[in-house]
Amino acid sequence: MSSKSLRFLIWGGNGWIAGHLRGLLEKQGKEVRTTTVRMEDPAEVGRELQHVQPTHVLNCAGCTGRPNVDWCEDNKPETVRSNVIGTLNLADQCFQRGIHYTVFATGCIYQYDDAHPIGGPGYTEQDVPNFTGSFYSMTKGHVEPILKSYENCLVLRLRMPVSDDLHPRSFITKIISYEHVVDVPNSNTILHDLLPASILLAQHNETGVYNFTNPGAISHNEALGLFKEIVRPEFCWRNFSLEEQAKVIKAGRSNCALDAAKLVGKLREYGYSVPEVHEAYRRCFERMRAAGIQ
Ligand SMILES: NC(=O)c1ccc[n+]([C@@H]2O[C@H](COP(=O)([O-])OP(=O)(O)OC[C@H]3O[C@@H](n4cnc5c(N)ncnc54)[C@H](OP(=O)(O)O)[C@@H]3O)[C@@H](O)[C@H]2O)c1
Repeated sequence: MSSKSLRFLIWGGNGWIAGHLRGLLEKQGKEVRTTTVRMEDPAEVGRELQHVQPTHVLNCAGCTGRPNVDWCEDNKPETVRSNVIGTLNLADQCFQRGIHYTVFATGCIYQYDDAHPIGGPGYTEQDVPNFTGSFYSMTKGHVEPILKSYENCLVLRLRMPVSDDLHPRSFITKIISYEHVVDVPNSNTILHDLLPASILLAQHNETGVYNFTNPGAISHNEALGLFKEIVRPEFCWRNFSLEEQAKVIKAGRSNCALDAAKLVGKLREYGYSVPEVHEAYRRCFERMRAAGIQ
C-alpha cells in the first residue's frame, strides 16, 4: 500500500497522547481522523470503522484514572469496560475488517525481582507480567497476551511518558510537583523520540509486542538533576522511601527496567535510532529551555 492511501484513525481522540500523535501525523502530511466513540460499544465501533474506512487504527484510549491510577481501585467495572472489553472489541472489529491495529499499552506490568534486580537485565517482551499491585496494571497485563493472538495487532508498551511541554500528564511534570519523590531507576518513554517510531512501525504493518521506551533506565533523582541543571536551576526536591510512598497512595506503582533491544533492532531496519534515556532526557530539557519553558 502506498503511503498516500493510508488513513489513520486515532481512538480516544481527546486524550493526551492522542493529541501529540495527531499533531505529528498532520505534520507528516498523513491523513488522520480522531474519534471519541466508546470502544466497548460494538455497534458504534462498527459504524465508525465503516464510516471512516481507516487502514490503520491507533488506539490511544484507555482508562487511566483521574487524578491518577488510584481511581481505578474504586472503579473496577469502568476500568474493565475500557481496558479489557473495549480494547479487545476494537481489536476484534479491526481484525475482521483487515485493519492494522496499534495499541498504546503500558510496560507498568513488571516490578524488579531477583532475576531482574535494579541495574540488572531488563524485562523482555517474553517475560510474563509480575506486577499486579494496581488494578490498572492488572487489567493491562491480562489483556496483552490475548491481544497478541490477533495477527493485525501491534502492542507498544509505554512507561512513564515524558513530553517536551511540562503537560500535567507528563511524568516529569508529575514528579516535580510532588512534595516527596522516591528514587528508583525506571525505563521511560520520551514521546519526542518514540511517537515517530510508532507511526513508522504502524505504517509498515509491524505486529507483535514491543517494549516502547528509550534504552536504559534512569532514576528519579537523575531525571530531576538534569531538569535542575538545564531547565530550572532553583528547583529542589525531597526524597522519601518506597515504604513512605506506600502510605500516601492507594494502588502500588510499578518500578522496572525494560529491555528495548527488540525495538531498537526493528527501528534500525528503517534507519531510525532512539537515544539512550539519559541522553534523551538531556535533549528533551534542552528543547524545553530553547522553547522558553521553565
Ligand atoms: N500517561 C501515562 O502515564 C501512560 C503510561 C503508559 C501507558 N499509557 C497508556 O496510553 C494510553 C493513552 O494515555 P494518555 O496518557 O493519553 O491517557 P488520557 O489522557 O487519559 O487519554 C485517554 C483517553 O481515552 C479515552 N477513553 C477512556 N476509555 C475509553 C473508552 N472505553 N472508549 C473510548 N475512549 C475512552 C478517554 O476519554 P474519557 O476521558 O472521555 O473517558 C481519554 O480521552 C492509555 O491506554 C494509557 O493506559 C499511558
